[in-house]
Amino acid sequence: MSTYILGIESSCDDTSAAVLQDDTILANVIANQDVHMKFGGVVPELASRSHQQNIIPVIHRALHDANISKKQLSAIAFTRGPGLMGSLLVGTSFAKAFAMGLNIPLIEVDHMQAHILAHFVQLKEQRKPVPKFPFLCLTVSGGHTQIVKVEDHFKMILLGETIDDAAGEAFDKTAKIMGLDYPGGPLIDKLAKQGNPKAFKFPMPQIKDLDYSFSGIKTSFLYFLRDNLKLNEHFIEENKADLAASMQYTIVEILMKKLVKAAKQEGIKEIAIAGGVSANSGLRNAIKNGEKKYGWTTFVPDFQFTTDNAAMIAITGLFKYQKGLFADQNTTPYTRSIFK
Ligand code: KG4
Ligand code: ZN
Repeated sequence: MSTYILGIESSCDDTSAAVLQDDTILANVIANQDVHMKFGGVVPELASRSHQQNIIPVIHRALHDANISKKQLSAIAFTRGPGLMGSLLVGTSFAKAFAMGLNIPLIEVDHMQAHILAHFVQLKEQRKPVPKFPFLCLTVSGGHTQIVKVEDHFKMILLGETIDDAAGEAFDKTAKIMGLDYPGGPLIDKLAKQGNPKAFKFPMPQIKDLDYSFSGIKTSFLYFLRDNLKLNEHFIEENKADLAASMQYTIVEILMKKLVKAAKQEGIKEIAIAGGVSANSGLRNAIKNGEKKYGWTTFVPDFQFTTDNAAMIAITGLFKYQKGLFADQNTTPYTRSIFK
């Protein structure tokens, strides 16, 4: 008999619901919130209110797309954290009530673990290979930059992380400084395709061990533009693509340097990337190149599983369901990463 898991994700600014039949995705619905665009970043209170408006229609739609009734669900999995408290509360409260109403198990999921486990979601059309344990995952999103050693579905060891900004923030801030909309990562990626990645050179941070820092490069980009705008007020406009390509190249170089170091240090050649920034074409190419360069086997997620989505919550829920790891009605959200 199949297991049907409903996943609910509401940690930041996307409301998402997904249905899995065992490890195979039947539906993955995502409602993006446009309300934040004019503010140049996520406004937490507006995010919670949008989640509240979106959550019922999004879940309805997911069940409809999956072509199953709520009575067929085996369990409800939801994002418990990390994320914005108000946003997490909407998903958590809904999941608790729905699980209680249906009298089925409730499963709490960590968002960062889920980004990694998204690699185990299978599409209906064709089964794909999944990473073998132990593997390394570079998780790069708007809030986190982590190198994680994944020993099994739930044994994950943090090898390094950012000491300040996340990689996604570096992309978003680069875009903001250039006058582009939020979130800027995809826009930088698009512009970079027409630019020269070696046109401008920005300094690489010198951070110890396997940790990252992205605040220095943002500042040097800001000063670089300020100086050049003094000489030519059209500098950004005239060099948009080259600026985007050069910054993207630098961010990817920074990410790759520590990932390569971690792979050597751990003697691991199974390498995955996850999180919103894993949608970046520069990073995807760099990881793929690792196959030839370092003999890696690489795992790059399908685009729909890079940015926040509930399929990753549902697959994590499935692994917990199989182990009988259930949450109770007293569970409350948490805002910070649980990885140590
Ligand atoms: O994982 P995610 O959807 O949300 C968080 O958990 O933070 O990641 C969002 C981040 C944003 O910073 C966004 O700009 C970035 O991922 N992003 C990209 C691309 N697509 C999304 N950054 C660079 N290139 C992209 N193509
Ligand atoms: Zn995320």
